[in-house]
Amino acid sequence: MSLALCPGSFDPITLGHLDLVVRAAALFDEVVVGVATNHAKRPLLDADARVRLVREVLAGTDVADRVRVESLGGGLLARQAAEMGAAAVVKGVRSASDVEHESPMALMNRHLTGVETVLLVADPRWAHVSSTMVKEVASLGGEVRDLVPAAVVEVLAAALASRGAERGGPGSG
Ligand code: PNS
Repeated sequence: MSLALCPGSFDPITLGHLDLVVRAAALFDEVVVGVATNHAKRPLLDADARVRLVREVLAGTDVADRVRVESLGGGLLARQAAEMGAAAVVKGVRSASDVEHESPMALMNRHLTGVETVLLVADPRWAHVSSTMVKEVASLGGEVRDLVPAAVVEVLAAALASRGAERGGPGSG
């Protein structure tokens, strides 16, 4: 039984993430989607909301019975992958700069516990899509319905409105 760990912040899950998980499920018997804390980023959605959304989105796919969603918190990814018996960490790369960013992490993770990393080249349909850009577009009033799963749209709008209100932005009263 081969297991892949697909880690990410999923803040929020995009159609690019969804494509990656479905493709990982075609290569491995089981996939754990690990919702992690990226210490370099301040998330819009809290960890529970991100896990809930990823679960909801994946429940509607053909691979749902072979995919589970776990919260990884901010721990050491290589150790978590080894503890769950993952054959590989699977990540998507959209560009040469993604490969440059991922390569040292892949080497460090292999150094730490021997876990290998498989980089899947993003489908060109989603090569321009990142959670960061989705949040920026949505926060500026742009359309993101064709970039994220349907379940994300309302949650994202509500989270952005509440962050705007916290900051005293438009619509804050
Ligand atoms: O979706 P993101 O924000 O690009 O996901 C990045 C993430 C969380 C997968 C990445 O930051 C990560 O692998 N974090 C684990 C921290 C870790 O183990 N660091 C030490 C060796 S690289």
